[in-house]
Amino acid sequence: MTDHISITREGAILKLGFNRPDKKNAITAAMYGALADALIDAGEDDDIRAVLFHSRGDVFTSGNDIADFMSGAGSIAGGAEIPPVMRFLEAIATAEKPLIAAVQGPAVGVGVTMLLHCDLVYACEAATFHTPFVDLGLVPEAASSLLLPQIAGYSRAAEMLILGKKVDAARAREFGFVNEIVTADALEETAMAAATSIAEKAPAAMKLTKKLMKGDRAPILARMKEEGVHFAAQLRSAEFREAGMAFMQKRKPDFSKLD
Ligand code: COA
Repeated sequence: MTDHISITREGAILKLGFNRPDKKNAITAAMYGALADALIDAGEDDDIRAVLFHSRGDVFTSGNDIADFMSGAGSIAGGAEIPPVMRFLEAIATAEKPLIAAVQGPAVGVGVTMLLHCDLVYACEAATFHTPFVDLGLVPEAASSLLLPQIAGYSRAAEMLILGKKVDAARAREFGFVNEIVTADALEETAMAAATSIAEKAPAAMKLTKKLMKGDRAPILARMKEEGVHFAAQLRSAEFREAGMAFMQKRKPDFSKLD
């Protein structure tokens, strides 16, 4: 149990909120676990028709908790048990009901890659999208190495995943993973209006439509696994150790002296 994820119901809409604003909504293993459980339960509950991700504070989420990564708690490819982060990623990749996101500020790492699995993404002007995996000595996750080139095109995906460039809301809309940019005041209302509209539609037709649009999820799950193997190895590397220490010490990493 963690109160860093808020789980609320508004009619047929399940709202999942990042609620750790003092750490910029960095996601811990416990938070991934809570999100995964809630999504799996929502899939089995006929009264829930749509899931809405939102956040408290000035950042949507700063991605995986880096201290968790450093301690091994945030491992993406675990031992016997499926790690909570993988349960979460599989749950969003296989969700049968529409997923909507309201992005009110910066989204980093998995905060961006999770959006590639959402059906509708609303952002306000303060939202930015940053996937600095290589800067951290890591590799993309959540099948973003497959989905971002598919959605945005290879060269735009390269700006984000290879160059690690932060993109603003307007550019993210051009890239194709943000539907609409709205004012901060209108964000929640807009996202809720979409969720409500979905909730009022025929549920079986809705599920079938999403299933048809998403197509075969097997390649996505396979890519997640493949990324997970490299991600886990990089977490144990000197490259990540240097990047993680640099983050903690609030300095730029120096990869020039690594063997
Ligand atoms: N993991 C753990 N702690 C994090 C975190 C993360 N991903 N992101 C932020 N924090 C913590 C900071 O360490 C700081 O803690 P402190 O108050 O104990 O020093 C606190 O949250 C505030 O962060 P700060 O960087 O001062 O806020 P900011 O408003 O200047 O910047 C971000 C916000 C999101 C742009 C910035 O925190 C950031 O880039 N975070 C790292 C993102 C990242 O690399 N994620 C991993 C992707 S795989």
